[in-house]
Amino acid sequence: ARAQIGVTGLAVMGRNLARNFARHGYTVAVHNRSFAKTQSLVADHGDDGDFVPSESMADFVASLERPRKVVIMVKAGGPTDAVIAELVPLLEQGDIIIDAGNAHFPDTRRREAELKEKGLHFVGTGVSGGEEGALNGPSIMPGGAPESYETLGPILEDISAKVDGVPCCTYVGPDGAGHFVKMVHNGIEYADMQLIAEAYDLLKQGLGASAQEIGQIFAEWNKGDLESFLIEITADVLQHVDAETGKAFVDIILDRAEQKGTGRWTVQNALDLGVPITGIAEATFARALSGSVPQRSAAVGVLPADAGQWEITDRDAFIEDVRRALYSSKVVAYSQGFDQIAAASEEFGWGIDRGAMARIWRGGCIIRARFLNRITEAYERDENLALLLADPYFTQTVGEGVSSWRRVVSQAALNGVPTPAFSSSLAYYDGVRAERLPAALIQAQRDFFGAHTYHRVDKEGVFHTEWSGDRSESNA
Ligand code: 6PG
Repeated sequence: ARAQIGVTGLAVMGRNLARNFARHGYTVAVHNRSFAKTQSLVADHGDDGDFVPSESMADFVASLERPRKVVIMVKAGGPTDAVIAELVPLLEQGDIIIDAGNAHFPDTRRREAELKEKGLHFVGTGVSGGEEGALNGPSIMPGGAPESYETLGPILEDISAKVDGVPCCTYVGPDGAGHFVKMVHNGIEYADMQLIAEAYDLLKQGLGASAQEIGQIFAEWNKGDLESFLIEITADVLQHVDAETGKAFVDIILDRAEQKGTGRWTVQNALDLGVPITGIAEATFARALSGSVPQRSAAVGVLPADAGQWEITDRDAFIEDVRRALYSSKVVAYSQGFDQIAAASEEFGWGIDRGAMARIWRGGCIIRARFLNRITEAYERDENLALLLADPYFTQTVGEGVSSWRRVVSQAALNGVPTPAFSSSLAYYDGVRAERLPAALIQAQRDFFGAHTYHRVDKEGVFHTEWSGDRSESNA
């Protein structure tokens, strides 16, 4: 037994993670259901380092030093359970199974509890950065028992992305915490992508600009506060020309956004926890709307727009308004996502350090962005920060863009351009800062029809009014 870490499941992500370990000098045991993939990995990339290929799971496990560390990189759900079932009888006390797929965190909690009874560690870990990240340095979000991080952590930190020499990997928290944080990362990814798409649509419809021109605007934006991987690839995609038709590539793609489900899970969980993550929710629903084929066919050319001809007089001012609206909406999406992490951390006793999460998202992952430094700093200033938007840096930078944001959202509405994420983010901003919300009326209605009671602003207690009787108030 000489391998320091093993990887089973050698589709592109598993393969690239295995290569990344090998490139960092680890001896890597590799295994795949079909041996041909294992052989081709070693044949094609043997130069990366030291691989120990095995055809059977038993040989694979036997090739690992103790405590064994086995990374499984297979499809979430049933396939993950099947691999775990095959591995468990071959492992011994203290060995560590690392699930690096996009598992749903309740599954991770269940698996961790089951394996703990058998004396095994189960580390559900988020890995972000796609194929490229897996190979050259992803952002890694490991959960599970803290003891497991003592031996595993240094290896994961080693292969992770680095920003200013700091690894984009840290221990997240017990059981499902790692996969939870990865899930919210993906939710934020959905929001970020939708906001960018709305900005693109506004520039397209407002200015009548070509994809090429809008690509250049995004490239310009990528030099400032918005600098991020997603803005960068947007600039690239928009300037790409379809080889077959010579048209802008984005114009020949069918406009139906798909998803594998992590965004949906994020929204479902937010409903359970009662955390308003409106940006992520609207982004997820916008994908659903784009795929609502019968509804869209019934509506196109039928539902009147009653919108005027959009004329923009100051092109540069409009572009700047959209940029600021994008920035502010993006901060809302992060603020909401971090609220969700805080709520789950409280609910499940995870003790997640939000500043550390922002720190490990600075590099490697899909949402990597310059402004994550600012989020880390905000949580360093106040680790109990109740609202990211209320951190002085964000209060100021978002505040500077509020009038732009209002202009963009109102122009979009007047001109019939759908901006669900921009609009809902502004509504959240106005909602959360409101001194008084119309929720008071809702409480009164609930008491009226269902005797659901209410609190008063002027005295303690729970009250009910006899709505159908003499309208007297009683202490409920
Ligand atoms: C990452 C990505 C990765 C993947 C998503 C895409 O962090 O590397 O988020 O996890 O690209 O699963 O999700 P959808 O298919 O749901 O858009």
